[in-house]
Amino acid sequence: MKILSVVGVRPNIIKFVAWSRAIAKFQQQYAIEHIIVHSGQHYDDAMFHHLWKTFELPDIQYRLNVGSGSHAWQVGMMMIELEKVLMVENPDWVVAIDDVNTALATGITAKKMNFKLAHIEAGLRSFDKSMPEEHNRILVDHVSDLLFVPDQQSFDKLLAEGIDIKNIKLTGNFMADTLWQSISKAGHCDIHDTISKYALSTNEIKLTNYALFTLHRPSNIQEEHTLKKIIQFLINDWGGKTDYIIWPVHPGVLKKLKETKLFEALLKASGHIILLQPVNYFEMLQLTSHASFVLTDSGGLQEETSILGIPCVTMRENTERPITLKENGGTNVLVGNDINKMDQSCKQAMNCVGVKNNIPYWEGNAAERGLISLFAMK
Ligand code: UD1
Repeated sequence: MKILSVVGVRPNIIKFVAWSRAIAKFQQQYAIEHIIVHSGQHYDDAMFHHLWKTFELPDIQYRLNVGSGSHAWQVGMMMIELEKVLMVENPDWVVAIDDVNTALATGITAKKMNFKLAHIEAGLRSFDKSMPEEHNRILVDHVSDLLFVPDQQSFDKLLAEGIDIKNIKLTGNFMADTLWQSISKAGHCDIHDTISKYALSTNEIKLTNYALFTLHRPSNIQEEHTLKKIIQFLINDWGGKTDYIIWPVHPGVLKKLKETKLFEALLKASGHIILLQPVNYFEMLQLTSHASFVLTDSGGLQEETSILGIPCVTMRENTERPITLKENGGTNVLVGNDINKMDQSCKQAMNCVGVKNNIPYWEGNAAERGLISLFAMK
């Protein structure tokens, strides 16, 4: 059987690790040929290639080299390039991963060409149609033949949307698989070494406690006044919380910070903000595990913090991952970009001992369950 998987961005790789390892485990038994395609949505070493090497993943056979651009252009270019690959390879299954533009291009192209399509991380919904990821998820789910869902809530959402129960497989979370496979290696990373290796600023640091901060959503960075408000909160209103903020900065956000002169303001801040280049997965896992709390707008970090029992304050109005919310047993609270709420929730997070959310099916075998169900559908 020939399986063709398409990866595009950094978080895809985390889920792909689990998928690729499950395929390797069953490769002989099921005579699998695995073709790997990289769309080129993320192309920087720090955003993609370094992580690929870190996990010692198999060679990529096709690089579409699409790069950055408007969403329509990016998705269109990926479709044009992927169509050529699918014509040559003629796979039994095409696999799309999560909710990024690469997944949308993969899903639509595969279906236009009548290939069977499996979707890793299906069934997530934020019900916020202003998010590009929400369109992507809905569209990919509705053209998929096999939908791997991480939890019961996502399963129920797909049923409610009319997707046939026989096409939905409650596998669990592929990202959790990779986390459990990586946690002991992450434990060997020295946080001080990570800081000196990736530092964008040259502060004198005696690391005591810190909050881990990440930011990249359009809703927080596109409007200059929103971005400014968040940065001012970090610079001026952090008192009474952790001694340090550690922030691995997304390259797109760094560009924006430089254009708006906020980068200079951050460098001039009192020394409590540690700016880093994007760090590798193991270092990030170690930084997350030892943070007093995490302040973020990332999807993956909401899940990782709930798995690890680290409090998480999410700068979004909604989440497609409600299973991570405190009221559902996780460690996550939503604050949007309301500074008062952010301030209060960060203070509460500091004084709160997180509880690990033992979510069913997140114990580390999601990818294997997915692969076996794919064979059952043959
Ligand atoms: C994308 C996903 C988002 C995911 C995130 C993970 C979509 C719609 N968005 O957002 O869901 O959470 O990846 O990081 O698919 N850039 C670089 N180097 C790179 C890649 C991007 O400098 O290797 C810069 C470019 O200026 C680019 C900008 O970052 O225009 C945004 O990149 P893009 O892939 O469009 O979106 P992300 O914000 O990374």
